[in-house]
Amino acid sequence: MEIFTKTKNLMSYLNNLKNKKIGFVPTMGALHNGHISLIKKSVSENDITIVSIFVNPTQFLEGEDLDKYPKKIASDKKVCQIAGVDGLFLPTEEEIYFDDESEIIAPKKTGYILEGYHRPNHFNGVLRVVLKLLNITKADNAYFGKKDAQQLYLVKKMVQNFFIKTNIVECDIIRDSDGLALSSRNAYLTMQEREKAVNLSKSLKKATKLIISGERDCNIIKQNMMELLKDIKIDYIEIVDRNFNKLEKIEIKNSIILIAGFVGTTRLIDNLEI
Ligand code: PAF
Repeated sequence: MEIFTKTKNLMSYLNNLKNKKIGFVPTMGALHNGHISLIKKSVSENDITIVSIFVNPTQFLEGEDLDKYPKKIASDKKVCQIAGVDGLFLPTEEEIYFDDESEIIAPKKTGYILEGYHRPNHFNGVLRVVLKLLNITKADNAYFGKKDAQQLYLVKKMVQNFFIKTNIVECDIIRDSDGLALSSRNAYLTMQEREKAVNLSKSLKKATKLIISGERDCNIIKQNMMELLKDIKIDYIEIVDRNFNKLEKIEIKNSIILIAGFVGTTRLIDNLEI
């Protein structure tokens, strides 16, 4: 596995590969089984897999966890090596951002609801860095997890709207055996907080059961979910269609139930496609 800290070195390595299919997995590090599943999928579907680890400052709001975001660079390198990564990109901020540069603004509607409402301008930073990374790697396929459902939707939309050639591959949420969706931020949870955090996925299971039993009213489903979420400071529970329009009634195969909230000081998100 080659390690690149300079953008120009990664770009010239990739330019010298002739007719190779390139897979790309963007991450912020502290790699867990969710990331590993994306990496393995990329390795199995492409000739070359590039992983980036960059804790992107522009997607964090004032007062968020940028400075304490978990860093496990030594073990991340091993994980990538074992998973069959060809190139690991570890840029500094100076390699990615320049003085007085053009910026990306997330779509006015879908970029400023839900996560975008509670973390204003967060998606501007996500899209800005993803655009740069896709331009650097010129990947054929880029792998994103469904846990960040709104991010995934907005990245797909940007790729389409800006005529980028990369195919965005959607990857399933990976959960611990108790149902908690894997996230680098789970590392912040104490044992007691972890027990509370499991209620996020339990509430999604409860919603599934209600829907299977015939319930279609989104308000009733959300109220039932709330009963399990008393220990979590909820930012939102929302049910939208796959284009992020709010739904009153569940549309089977076209709905997503999304939750975000704080367990202690840790903000977690989860969702389920219906
Ligand atoms: O999902 C993430 O880890 C980040 O938002 C991403 C896509 C790597 C951009 O910084």
